[in-house]
Amino acid sequence: MEYLRLGVNIDHVATIRNARGGGHPDPVRAARQAAAAGADGITAHLREDRRHISDDDISRLSEGIDLPLNLEMAATEEMLQIALRHRPHAGCIVPEKRQEVTTEGGLDAAGGLDELRPYCERLSEAGIRVSLFIDPDRAQLEAAKELGVPVVELHTGAYCAAFFADRGGTRTKTELARIVSAAEMAGQLGLECHAGHGLTFDTVGPVAAVPEVMELNIGHFLVGEAIFCGLDSSIKRMRSLMDQARAEAGGARSA
Ligand code: PXP
Repeated sequence: MEYLRLGVNIDHVATIRNARGGGHPDPVRAARQAAAAGADGITAHLREDRRHISDDDISRLSEGIDLPLNLEMAATEEMLQIALRHRPHAGCIVPEKRQEVTTEGGLDAAGGLDELRPYCERLSEAGIRVSLFIDPDRAQLEAAKELGVPVVELHTGAYCAAFFADRGGTRTKTELARIVSAAEMAGQLGLECHAGHGLTFDTVGPVAAVPEVMELNIGHFLVGEAIFCGLDSSIKRMRSLMDQARAEAGGARSA
């Protein structure tokens, strides 16, 4: 099975910094530490309200890290101009509502083809690899294909919420099955498949075992866990759980 990349989302290092103003803890320092711990990429979401990552963070991340930067962004002219200025490796288009605590659902690509198309085109023309953050849903995958983007990121939030509600019961299985079949469909459509949102040590394994999934983007849990065991250790443990799930799934497939 192919290598599964880990993108570490450092937004919530900035959340803690912003609770006091000032510069500590610095998300760029966290990004460098994530790189040393084995992250394959750094993800940062510049929200319209700048509640965590700031414009200056994006400038410093663009210049100060060796790993590919995945900029999560709403489809707005302001964010497009910022992406075009910094030219991150990837631009993941996410839905954004000011009132939400986090990105609560996937992008409605199927209902927003005409609005999304120019953003996808202008990012792609600038050499930025576009991904759409969508729910694991057939219509959304078909819309991503129609928009011609190379990557989709499947929203794993419903699966993670189900896991914390029934710990692997019927609801978890149903949500996981949605991810598995969406990943298969992404593969059939020729879309590279990523996944993320809400993943933890307890929930990462079954998603890491899905062969079509090539990258996981994980943030809040890693930063929260770092309070107890340090960022290096939380990332290394996540990496090892991903590798273990991948190895076991690969073994099961070839058996
Ligand atoms: N992927 C996308 C597109 C996201 O918007 C987020 C949250 O910013 C994540 C992954 C990471 O989610 P979490 O912080 O819950 O791990």
